[in-house]
Amino acid sequence: MKNNEKPIGIFDSGLGGLRLLTDLKMQFPYESFIYLGDTAHLPYGSKSQKTIQQYSEKIVTFLISKNVKMIIIACNTASSLASEHIKQLFNIPIIEVVTPCIQKAVKLTNNNRVGVIGTNATIQSTIYSQYIKKINNKILVFEKACPLLVPIIEEGVQNKMILDELFNEYFHELLEFNIDTLILGCTHYSIIEKHIFSFFNNEIKLITSSNSINFLVEKTLLMDNMKNCTKGYDDMYFVTDLSSTFKEQAKILLAINTINIDLINLV
Ligand code: DGL
Repeated sequence: MKNNEKPIGIFDSGLGGLRLLTDLKMQFPYESFIYLGDTAHLPYGSKSQKTIQQYSEKIVTFLISKNVKMIIIACNTASSLASEHIKQLFNIPIIEVVTPCIQKAVKLTNNNRVGVIGTNATIQSTIYSQYIKKINNKILVFEKACPLLVPIIEEGVQNKMILDELFNEYFHELLEFNIDTLILGCTHYSIIEKHIFSFFNNEIKLITSSNSINFLVEKTLLMDNMKNCTKGYDDMYFVTDLSSTFKEQAKILLAINTINIDLINLV
C-alpha cells in the first residue's frame, strides 16, 4: 500500500472524537480513518498524567499496527498530558488538538479575555493558559473544569433543563469574567456546542477542535506527501469496551444507519 493510501488514525477516550471525525470526513473525503474510542478507560479527565500517557502509548501502538500514516489525538486530555510523551516515542506524524485551538482563540479574541473549559486533568495541567500567555501575555485566561459534562454527553443527554443547571454551576464565573471567546477544551463538549452557544446568548466565539484543526491536518498531509486522491478503504471503528449506548450514539453522531465497531483489548 502506498503511504498516501494508508488511513489516518484518530483516538479519543470515548464518543467525543466522533464529532471531530464527522467534520474531518467532510473536509477530507478521500481519506480513510481508523477511529479508536478507549471506552474501557473513560473518563480520562480524572486520571493521572502517567496513566493517560500509558493509555495513549498503547493506543498509538495499536493504530500503528493498523498501518496508519498519521495520528490525530482527538482527546484534549491526552493532547494536554500525553502528546509530548508519545511524539518522543513514535516516529509518525502526530497531531494534537490543543495548539490549533489556542492559536485560533488568540487570533479571534477582541477583548483579550478567553475562557477554557475542559476535564479536571486538562484544566489542572494549565497548559492552555501557559500557551496563550506565551503567545500574548496581555490575554487574560479563565480556566474551568466541568467534570460532569462528559458522563452525561456519553449517555446522550441533551435535555436543556439538565444542561442549563450544569452550565449555571460551571459557567457563571466565565460570564462574570466577561470572556468574548471560549475554547471547548474537551472533544465531548462540541457535541453540545449549540446548547453552550445559546447559554452565552449566541454572543461568544466558540473554539472547537473541529473548527480549528483542518489547516494543520492539511498541512501535515501535504508536507509529508501523504494526501490521498481517491478513497480506497472503508473507515474502521474500534473500542475497548462496547456498550449499546455507545453504538447508538455513534450512529447518531456519524449520521449513519449501521456501524461495525470492533471490540479490542489493548495490551
Ligand atoms: N474527550 C476527552 C477530552 O477531550 C476526555 C473526556 C474524558 O474521558 O474525561 O478531554
